[in-house]
Order: sequence, then C-alpha cells, then structure tokens
Amino acid sequence: MAAARSVTAVLLCFLTDLLLGLLISSSTGATNIKTFYQVTSSSQNGVQLTGRQLTRRSVLECANLCLSPLNSPCSGFAFVKTSSLCKLGEMDYGSPVTHPLDHSVYGASIVCDASSGFEVRTHGSAAACLWISTTALSFENAENTCVGFGGHLMTTRSPDKFSILQEIVKDLNENTWFGLSTSAFPDFRWVDDLSKPTQNISEYIFDTNQPDFDWDHCVEMFPWSLKANNYNCSVPRKFVCERK
Ligand SMILES: *[C@@H]1O[C@H](CO)[C@@H](O)[C@H](O)[C@H]1NC(C)=O
Ligand SMILES: *[C@@H]1O[C@H](CO)[C@@H](O)[C@H](O)[C@H]1NC(C)=O
Repeated sequence: MAAARSVTAVLLCFLTDLLLGLLISSSTGATNIKTFYQVTSSSQNGVQLTGRQLTRRSVLECANLCLSPLNSPCSGFAFVKTSSLCKLGEMDYGSPVTHPLDHSVYGASIVCDASSGFEVRTHGSAAACLWISTTALSFENAENTCVGFGGHLMTTRSPDKFSILQEIVKDLNENTWFGLSTSAFPDFRWVDDLSKPTQNISEYIFDTNQPDFDWDHCVEMFPWSLKANNYNCSVPRKFVCERK
C-alpha cells in the first residue's frame, strides 16, 4: 500500500526559543514528509486556530499530537510555555484577531512529496514544496517539466511566499522563471489555476516600471533587485517547480 510508505517528520526550528528538533518515524524510502514550521510573531496576529486544548510538557510533544491521525485534521498548533497548554487545530490566516493564547509558540504544517528532489522551504507564515532546476529552459518547457513532476511553476500569492523565491534566486544568482504569465498583456495569471494575482501582490512583486513590453508574456525574477520582470518566454531560464 502506498499509504503505508509514508514518513512523518516534525521539523521545528523555533529560533526565538533556541529549540531545534527533528523527529522522523516510519519506514525508509518513503516520500511524504509532514513538516512543521514556525509561524512568526509578525504573522501570529492573523492566526486563528480552531480545535481542542490539552496540556503537554513540551512544544515537541504538542507537535507530535498534531501529527497523530487521532487528531486529524491538524494543520497547526500553539504551545503556551507558561501554562503548558497545547492547542491543536487548523491554521487560518484570516482577518487579524487578538489571540487569547499569548506568549505562544505557533507551528503550521505542510505535507511535501519529497521524491525527485523536492524539499520544503519556509519563510514567515509560508511554506512550499519546491524543486529548483539546475538547467535553463524556455518558460513553456519549464512549466511542462513541473507538470511532469505533478506540479507547476512556483506561485507566490503572499509576500512571505515571495520571500521564499527571493532566497532561492539570490542563491542561484540568475534570472529565474516562476509561475506567472499572460496570454493577453497585461492580464497576468498564475499558471496553476489561471487566477489573477491580487492588485496588492502584483504591485508588491514587480520591479519598478514593470511589467513593461507587451510582447514579453512570461515572468522571471531578477537576481539583483529580487523583484519580478516580464520577459521573452522563449529565452531559457532556470526555474522553480512547486507541488501542492
Ligand atoms: C490590499 O490593498 C488594499 C488597498 O491598498 C488594502 O486596503 C488592503 O489591506 C490590502 N490587503 C492586503 C492583504 O495587503
Ligand atoms: C524571443 O527570444 C527568441 C529566442 O532567443 C528570439 O528568437 C525571438 O526573436 C525573441 N522575441 C522577441 C520579441 O524579442
């Protein structure tokens, strides 16, 4: 059974707490990794956590409870150190709330099929299951490569998600395709579901005076400004794939 091959992993990097823990259970050779990552204090205001409350001695115990199928679905948790309160449930980054769980450590999870070199990258409240190319391809061939992996070119629907891409492109130090293009300039769409970026994110991601030429239909990130530019789709670029 494919499901029996799944690995569960808890990766906790709560730098503010100087705590680093990695727990892996189940068989080797498996590819599904459930990773917990820290939800930063700047994003805590938007976090609403539904679910049940228990007490546990440590943040790792709290995260492990969230992994248990008995507590499914659990996509996040909050741990209050002062009272050892562990709250499990589903993370929702909706409208800001004043959360009753003050002084907490928050974690949210992502499940990543880590076969074929995919890995989890995180920033702030965002996480993504990504693959970074080592060769350059046209935008169309790049997207087809990602579809072949069961994904798409990476989308960046939030500033935190865009920061993940910025960190990758900074390391690559090359112009890099991601999952935004247009077939009717200037109506750019995300490649995964052809939805429009919000006005805010569109203004946030594009470099000054971009998008410009209406014959440039594909979107890359510049390695110098770490902002987006529309460019000639036929030109080979490195690229980043994402699996949901
Ligand atoms: C998007 O922009 C509008 C208008 O500037 C602003 O009111 C709104 O708060 C912004 N939304 C987000 C999620 O940043
Ligand atoms: C786009 O790039 C291709 C390949 O380099 C080139 O043949 C083509 O002329 C370019 N198109 C434009 C409009 O510059």
